[in-house]
Amino acid sequence: MIGKLNHVAIVVPDLDAAAAIYRDTLGADVSAPEDLPDHGVTTVFVNLPNTKIELLRPYGENSPIAKFLEKNPAGGMHHLCYEVQDILAARDQLQAAGARVLGDGKPKTGAHGKPVLFLHPKDFCGTLLELEQV
Ligand code: CO
Repeated sequence: MIGKLNHVAIVVPDLDAAAAIYRDTLGADVSAPEDLPDHGVTTVFVNLPNTKIELLRPYGENSPIAKFLEKNPAGGMHHLCYEVQDILAARDQLQAAGARVLGDGKPKTGAHGKPVLFLHPKDFCGTLLELEQV
C-alpha cells in the first residue's frame, strides 16, 4: 500500500536557525518559509535527492504542534509521510485492520496541495504517520 517516503517532519523552536543548519552546515537545498494558516504551521522544505525534510514551527493560536514543542523544547522528529496512490482506499483498508485515523477521517489538503491523512502513533510503532496521495 505505502510507496515512497515523501518526507520526514521535524518540529523546531527556531525555523530560521534550523533552515540555516540544513542550508549552511549540511549544504542542502532549502526552500523559503511558507505560512500555512489552515494547518497552524510554518514550513521550510529541505529537498534531498531521495526525499524531503519538512521543518515545522507553530503558526498562530491553537497550532497542532504547540504541545509537541512544549514537551520537546529543543524540537524533534514529529512524523513520517508515506505516499499512497489512493488515499480513500488506503484509509478504508487501514480502518478495517483496526488502525485509527486522526480527526474526522476525511482527507485534508496538505502542504503540497494534495490530500493527506494522519494515523495514530500508537498503532504504528510510536510514530505519527501522514499519508499523502500522489
Ligand atoms: Co508532513
